[in-house]
Amino acid sequence: MTRLDGKVALVTGAGGGLGAEHAKLLARCGAAVVVNDLGGARDGTGSGSTMADQVVEEIRGAGGRAVADYGSVSAKVDAEAMVRRAVDEFGQLDIVVNNAGILRDKSFKKMTDEMWDVVLDVHLRGTYLVTKAAYDQMLAQEKGGRIVMTSSTSGLLGNFGQTNYGAAKAGIAGFMRCLALEGVKANITVNLLAPFAYSRLTEDLMPEQAAAPLAPDKVSAAVAWLCSDDASDVTGRTFVVGGNKVYLLSWEAFEIVAKPPTEEALTVDEVGAAMRSSIERWPKLLSAADFM
Ligand SMILES: NC(=O)c1ccc[n+]([C@@H]2O[C@H](COP(=O)([O-])OP(=O)(O)OC[C@H]3O[C@@H](n4cnc5c(N)ncnc54)[C@H](O)[C@@H]3O)[C@@H](O)[C@H]2O)c1
Repeated sequence: MTRLDGKVALVTGAGGGLGAEHAKLLARCGAAVVVNDLGGARDGTGSGSTMADQVVEEIRGAGGRAVADYGSVSAKVDAEAMVRRAVDEFGQLDIVVNNAGILRDKSFKKMTDEMWDVVLDVHLRGTYLVTKAAYDQMLAQEKGGRIVMTSSTSGLLGNFGQTNYGAAKAGIAGFMRCLALEGVKANITVNLLAPFAYSRLTEDLMPEQAAAPLAPDKVSAAVAWLCSDDASDVTGRTFVVGGNKVYLLSWEAFEIVAKPPTEEALTVDEVGAAMRSSIERWPKLLSAADFM
């Protein structure tokens, strides 16, 4: 079994859904875990300590090591405090799983600035703030590290009614790709998870029959492996994971037209003709449904 003995992990938004399963599996693999959760509602309103406490209790009850944290990923002081909690409680920080998230779905026609900003704030800025504090700590430790960021097929492939969420999740993907390059020198891997699971976040978007086959615990093994020593050479990658399926999502460059840069600029008609003559052969536009 993949072991994470001696490692210390921080999982954000780990009071329920996917985050709770990630935290419990990391603990079962031997890691000590900071279980962060703001404890609010699905749309990010409210807060409380019960959600994180319950997961910590469960981990401890099963013989694991865990501590709760009730901070918000979108507050800089809280993000820094989460990382400090890992160091104060367990001596170091080796693994971060950025998982916390909220939804404020609306068609773009009805999107408000507030709905846009709060979703960007929790997902993109929250992932930045926690990762920044954690990355600095990992650099100071000089022992490498593992960072997993959570995106979504909504951001990578698109989904109706989620322009705010999709923008945030695509932003996280770009963040991951850049940080993965920078982390190589310090043996810090950075990978992206696009999960699909039946959770509080998706229960009104998926049929109830999806609850068992798409249970959140069917995502966590991929996360735990990415956090292991065995995954030291895997970085900058995007994985779509759910229902016991793990896909690698990778880019493909399809040449439509190319003439030497020393020649005159392409004309609109040349580009148009090349587009039209190749369009039937373009790679398929994937959607979330291709993975479920
Ligand atoms: N469930 C899916 O199918 C699916 C698909 C794509 C992406 N995701 C992503 O996976 C992650 C987990 O989602 P989930 O389905 O388990 O949803 P969930 O609502 O069950 O879990 C999200 C958790 O994040 C916590 N949270 C919210 N705002 C926070 C904040 N500011 N600080 C700290 N914690 C906060 C919530 O309290 C909640 O426990 C999210 O980032 C989500 O966008 C989920």
